[in-house]
Amino acid sequence: MNDFNFYSPTEFVFGRGRENECGKYVRKYGGTKVLLHYGGQSAKRSGLLDRVKASLEKNGIAYCELGGVQPNPRDTLVYKGISLARAEGVDFILAVGGGSVIDSSKAIAMGVPYDGDFWDFYSGKRAEKALPVGTVLTIAAAGSEGSGDSVITKEDGMLKRGTGSDVLRPRFSVMAPELTQTLPPFQTACGAADIMAHVFERYFTNTREVEITDRLCEAVLMTMLKETPRVIADPDNYEARANIMWAGTVAHTNVVGVGREQDWNSHGIEHELSALYDCAHGAGLAVIMPAWMEFVYKHDVMRFCQMATRVFGCSMDFAAPENTALAGIKAFRSFLHSIGLPINFTELGAKEEDIPLLVEKFGLGGGRTGGFVKLSSEDVAEIYRIAARASL
Ligand code: NZQ
Ligand code: ZN
Repeated sequence: MNDFNFYSPTEFVFGRGRENECGKYVRKYGGTKVLLHYGGQSAKRSGLLDRVKASLEKNGIAYCELGGVQPNPRDTLVYKGISLARAEGVDFILAVGGGSVIDSSKAIAMGVPYDGDFWDFYSGKRAEKALPVGTVLTIAAAGSEGSGDSVITKEDGMLKRGTGSDVLRPRFSVMAPELTQTLPPFQTACGAADIMAHVFERYFTNTREVEITDRLCEAVLMTMLKETPRVIADPDNYEARANIMWAGTVAHTNVVGVGREQDWNSHGIEHELSALYDCAHGAGLAVIMPAWMEFVYKHDVMRFCQMATRVFGCSMDFAAPENTALAGIKAFRSFLHSIGLPINFTELGAKEEDIPLLVEKFGLGGGRTGGFVKLSSEDVAEIYRIAARASL
């Protein structure tokens, strides 16, 4: 196992109705003037925003608000948020929503104390200072409620880029699973694909002797296989929602990924799809992740066999392990399809003729990237081609 530091300072406030306590936690972490940041309609429609405001008022916390974060959050709203927060003397950002709202909040949090353009942080600079962020999570998916990451899209050129720093880890995250009961089934499924992808990005590693993180990864994956069909069939199933919500956080705080080399090519390859077509990140991953697996499995057939047998219950073909590896990948793609996700370009709304543009935006030039298998531009193009034509 590799050496590591694991820093996860977020206080997770989990359970029914816990959003009514968010004002208390803002106060606990030093907030006196909050920027309440949220998305389109869902938090307003469900009454969640009113409950959050009531909790802030009850705890004597002043606030201003900025809604309108769209999925695949844009830099343009981040600039507005930074100006508003400065003008209003905001000292705490409260995100009410999913990964997009939380990532936009983190971007504003970095931008407020920074003299330059906040986009610098999405072009390679690491943030050392940020306003504190708290979250009220409404969708189990991106894991941003427990991560130090943020992903923003620059409208000019539709460039989707990420940044990471421990200063971005939320001070607290309220996780009330019943808030996710209003999600449309497609969004629930997209979230499930993202959670599983966060595990796979870590599971496929060249690091040996990582039994504990292997087994934690497998536990999260098996939980998703069991619980996702339950919530798709019965959206109000609190227990299944609760298990999925915690799985989403466990998948991405990095507790399942410490001490091991990680890959992350599927995420990079997907980000170009959600940048170009504005599709849901999880839907893009459903198309890319199995295609990536088909492209790289020969690098370590036995690791794919481990996934196939332990997670998907495939039987081991000792005479031809490749068959087992491929059966596992097939089972993963069938699962994604069974919960209503796209599995190829046509179903996603992507075009095969755009592959050269996608590869160019991915931006490898003559270089290579990835922790499990290092990919060249031509490899990335081939993964897009496999994804474009995939079938069950
Ligand atoms: O805007 P509203 O009306 O709230 O609608 C949202 C949005 O349309 C809706 N929604 C959220 N909660 C709901 C709800 N609808 C009904 N009931 C609820 N309770 O769901 C839609 C998607 O929301 P979004 O926040 O975009 O979803 P998600 O959490 O999947 O976030 C995706 C973003 O996170 C990034 C992705 O790239 C993408 O931009 N990621 C962030 C990561 C991180 N910061 O650590 C890691 C991930 O790998 C990912 O890249
Ligand atoms: Zn993701």
